[in-house]
This record gives sequence, structure tokens and C-alpha cells, in this order.
Amino acid sequence: MSASDDVLAMANTEVDISNVKMGQGITIKWRGKPVFIRRRTQEEIEKEGAVPMNLLRDEEEDIDRVINPEWLVVLGICTHLGCVPISNAGEYSGWFCPCHGSHYDLRYHHHMTCCGAVS
Ligand code: FES
Repeated sequence: MSASDDVLAMANTEVDISNVKMGQGITIKWRGKPVFIRRRTQEEIEKEGAVPMNLLRDEEEDIDRVINPEWLVVLGICTHLGCVPISNAGEYSGWFCPCHGSHYDLRYHHHMTCCGAVS
């Protein structure tokens, strides 16, 4: 059994990313939720790929989180309590959620909150 055509049609969207420059990103709305689309530079890709896994709670390689390393596409919701983080902010120059101080890198890996919790 598979999803019907109308359900599958709602699961997809098309976005014009032709004007997104290297090192920049856009936020779109998909099914009522924000989606961050970031065009990463080669330097950013290499930096994210070099992060030692033992520093991450979720030990997933950057290359396993993307289809094309140049394009990071993630649901733009804070993994702590569901707010929408601010782009191009925080200690890792990715996203910052001011609610409780969550910092995200350019692989959208959640690093910390104010109280030290990582979700
Ligand atoms: S909801 Fe984002 S840090 Fe708490």
C-alpha cells in the first residue's frame, strides 16, 4: 500500500534556488513549517566534515546528512522546544535560538542550550 497521488503531491514542493549565492540561505514555508535552505561554501563543507564525531551527541557524519554537500535543507525548527532559530547567528555561524540559547552549526547540528542540555 502506498500513499495516494494527492498525498504525494502535498509532500513535494518546488523552490527557485537559482538566486541563492554561496554562503547564503533562504527560508521557505513548507506545509506550514519553516525550511532552511543553505548553499554552503567549500570552506563550510570542509569545516563541517572535519568536526570530530566524539564532540557530537548525534554522531552522524555531515556527508550522511545531505544529498549534495553544497545544499543543506533542514526543517527550521529548534530541536529543544520547537521555536524557529535565527539564521546566520550563534557560536557556529549557523542558527541561534534565543529562547534558551541553542546554537546550530552549518550541518544544523544542535550544540547546546543555556542549561547545557542537548536535544
Ligand atoms: S526552543 Fe530553542 S532553545 Fe529552547
